[in-house]
Order: sequence, then C-alpha cells, then structure tokens
Amino acid sequence: MNKTSAIGIFDSGIGGLTVGHQIAKLMPNERIIYFGDTKHLPYGDKSQDAIIHFSKNITNFLLKQNCKMVVIACNTASALAFNAVKDLCKDKAIAVNVIDPVIDFTCKSAARSVGIIGTKNTILSDVYASKIKTHHPELETKSLATPLLVPMIEEGFYQNKISNTILSNYLEKDELLNIDHLILGCTHYPLIEEEIKQYYKGTVEIVNSARIVSKHIKKKLTDTNLLNDSESNQTHEFHVSDYTDSFEQSALYFFGERINLKETRLK
Ligand code: DGL
Repeated sequence: MNKTSAIGIFDSGIGGLTVGHQIAKLMPNERIIYFGDTKHLPYGDKSQDAIIHFSKNITNFLLKQNCKMVVIACNTASALAFNAVKDLCKDKAIAVNVIDPVIDFTCKSAARSVGIIGTKNTILSDVYASKIKTHHPELETKSLATPLLVPMIEEGFYQNKISNTILSNYLEKDELLNIDHLILGCTHYPLIEEEIKQYYKGTVEIVNSARIVSKHIKKKLTDTNLLNDSESNQTHEFHVSDYTDSFEQSALYFFGERINLKETRLK
C-alpha cells in the first residue's frame, strides 16, 4: 500500500458517485478509480450469491489497479458482501463499507427515532436496525424498502412531478411515522436529498452517508499514513460494465471535465 495509489470505489451504478464526489472534495490529492456495475443494476433485488460474485470480481479488478482502499459505495453490497470483499483485500488494501460509519454517526447524534430507507435487500438484511440496537438499544428504528427510487434516479427522474409523487408516497407511509432522523440507506438517495428535505420541511434531520463516509475515509487514511499529501490535480478513472448515457451525464455532473470513462467487462 502506497500513499499515491488510487482509492477504488464501486456501486451498481451512479449512486456511488455521491460518495466519490465527497471524497474528491474532501481529499483533492486522491486519485479515484470508480467502477459502476451498470450491467447488473439494480443490486437491490438480486440474490446474496450474485451480489457477492459481482463484488468479488470488481474488488479483484480494483486490486489489480493497486488501489490502497476499496470503498463499497453501495449499501446493498455493504450489507451482503462486505466480509467477502474484506477477505479479498486482506493486507493489500483497506476495505470500507458505507454502513458502519453511518451507524456510528447516528448513534452519537441526538436521534430518538430514526427512519431508514433503502433497497429491498438492505432493508431485509436488517443490518441498520440490528447494529443500532446493539450500539444504542434506546434508539427506535423504523425501516422501509423504497425499491422504485434507484431505477427512478438512474433514469434521471429527480426534482420533477414524477419523483415528487413517488417520494411522497413512500415517505407518508405509517412505517416512517414520527421519526426525527432519516438515514438515506442507499448511495443513490443523496441525489434526491433536496426533495426529501422539502417533503419534511425541516422536521426531520437527513443523514447523508456520502458526507459521513468521506470523513471516515479521510480519518482512516490519515491514521494509517496513507493520505496522499503531495499536491496534485488528479484525473479520475471511471469504468462501467455497460455504457449508459445517464452514467456519463452523472459523472460529468459530479466531476466536470475530469472524467475518463471506459466500458470494462468483467467475467
Ligand atoms: N446505490 C446502491 C445502494 O446503496 C443501489 C443498489 C441497487 O443497485 O439497487 O444500495
């Protein structure tokens, strides 16, 4: 592992770009190699075996690029495949998931009743509720699977009538009644954070994993003496398993001119 090696990040699609964007903002000297598994999107309703298989293939690809860290910028893969990724990384790279830093943040916050929204797989895994129960038994949790949101966002539907209707339909459900915090348990959801905030009109604190995870990563790299401190204007690398226009548009939106997009097929 080497300070100037890249940070590898992966997700099923554009969601992990919300994490990548925050990493680039907070640690501008870091080079990012991003893999969006658009061919297998969405991960939210696939079997655990499939998610582990995809995650291992991508991790092997990122390790071949000598990444010093592999960030699973996907809650679904973090919930179902973190141990498999960690085992592959061993002493070659640091494995990071997007769930543990959010649990830690939420348990230290003033939350008394926290809602969690995510894909079917993330919510069914019960990972948020069970870890919160262990760390902070008095904190009430309320979970709701919101499976339409990932395809909606991937198709570019946000800040419009359709997304507003779908979102309100989910957020007004009894499952989320009387919460004071809401965890965006899917890395796609920061793209609709503003709409969620508009829905709650300041009554609910939104927990955005992209910001929390990037701070956690900075601390981890600093503690292990792997933070790149040589000033450089990095060109990031983006790979997708299947080229989509919406991925390119989102990568451009988050990273401006500095994108270098390739279609990379893994076995
Ligand atoms: N961004 C992924 C997550 O955080 C989306 C999963 C999907 O592809 O359904 O779970």
